[in-house]
Amino acid sequence: MTDQKLLLRALGGETLPVPPVWMMRQAGRYLPEYRATRAQAGDFLSLCYNPELAAEVTLQPIRRYGFDAAILFADILLLPQALGADLWFVTGEGPRLSTITDAAGVAGLRPVADIHETLSPIYETVRILSRELPAETTLIGFAGAPWTVATYMVAGRGTPDQGPAHAFKAADRAAFSALIDRLTEATVEYLSAQVEAGAEVIKLFDSWAGSLKGADFDDFALAPARTIITALKARHPGLPVIAFPREAGARYEGFARAVGADCLALDNSVEASWAAARLQPDGCVQGNLAPRHLVTGGPDLVAETRAICQAFSNGPHIFNLGHGITPDADPENVHRMLEAIRG
Ligand code: CP3
Repeated sequence: MTDQKLLLRALGGETLPVPPVWMMRQAGRYLPEYRATRAQAGDFLSLCYNPELAAEVTLQPIRRYGFDAAILFADILLLPQALGADLWFVTGEGPRLSTITDAAGVAGLRPVADIHETLSPIYETVRILSRELPAETTLIGFAGAPWTVATYMVAGRGTPDQGPAHAFKAADRAAFSALIDRLTEATVEYLSAQVEAGAEVIKLFDSWAGSLKGADFDDFALAPARTIITALKARHPGLPVIAFPREAGARYEGFARAVGADCLALDNSVEASWAAARLQPDGCVQGNLAPRHLVTGGPDLVAETRAICQAFSNGPHIFNLGHGITPDADPENVHRMLEAIRG
């Protein structure tokens, strides 16, 4: 038991004297070595589909900082691409996709069984990583949750309020549900293949869960997460899963139990003392330093990092940010954060 990796121990419900730590987007543009490898690959998608280089950028933050976990380098939008959507990234702006706005668009998607044709390089990245990672580092695989992925597939890009996806849902709930169902099924196959290739933990990113309310939250955030996690755990008994229903607010309460997740990832808006009282009794929590502290640094970074560790010190906790580290973060501030956590 005690020779188990620290991240797996926390996910198993152990309270540790020092929490294991990793960061969302830890392989990213704030690191000069990432920018160099991305330039070598040519562009972001070429990097995602090049197993050697994707494994290299995954390992870079592990070498530099000794995080307790590595997250596979890929993107949540590779799955829609594997289902037949066109995908490209506009530098400095973000992703663009062909749009799906009606039942015919959903019917036109490629069969779920075909996704591995496109995604096999991702599984190769996982295989390389499971050979090359240090023995104490846990490998996390991931996918976007169906609602979040659907918001990009419907709008063809990121949107501030997910308006186009809400409009599709209002115009034809059955067709929108069919899209969510197709994504749910494809996500199970995608994540299962990552586990077979060597991923030890799975994280489900529902970055836009906060724009769903009431029955919409139940139908499009909670139910798909429960279906995916139930299927994964049936195929891979004991697989730990982290759920991230970002900005779900009060709907964070009971979410881990309802979907069967081992850990709930917390965004920046969640008060640590509230989460310790209301969420941590259900299992491990992960989070939740605001990424801006890694830009500004100084005494606030240290004080806030310590406050989060203190608030969660009576239960299982994985230290992380509340969202991805930003390109303008100072790599030295990550060392200061780690010093504040590990002392
Ligand atoms: O966390 C990691 O280090 C692992 C790799 C990872 C990336 N994206 C790499 C990436 C993960 C887990 C993601 C998840 C992802 N991708 C999410 C969910 C998490 C979140 O941030 O809410 C979403 C919504 C996406 C879609 C996406 N990918 C957007 C909106 C953008 C553009 C915004 C931006 O930061 O530029 C991306 C691009 C992206 N994905 C980058 C990275 C490192 C930057 C691309 C680059 O190098 O130019």
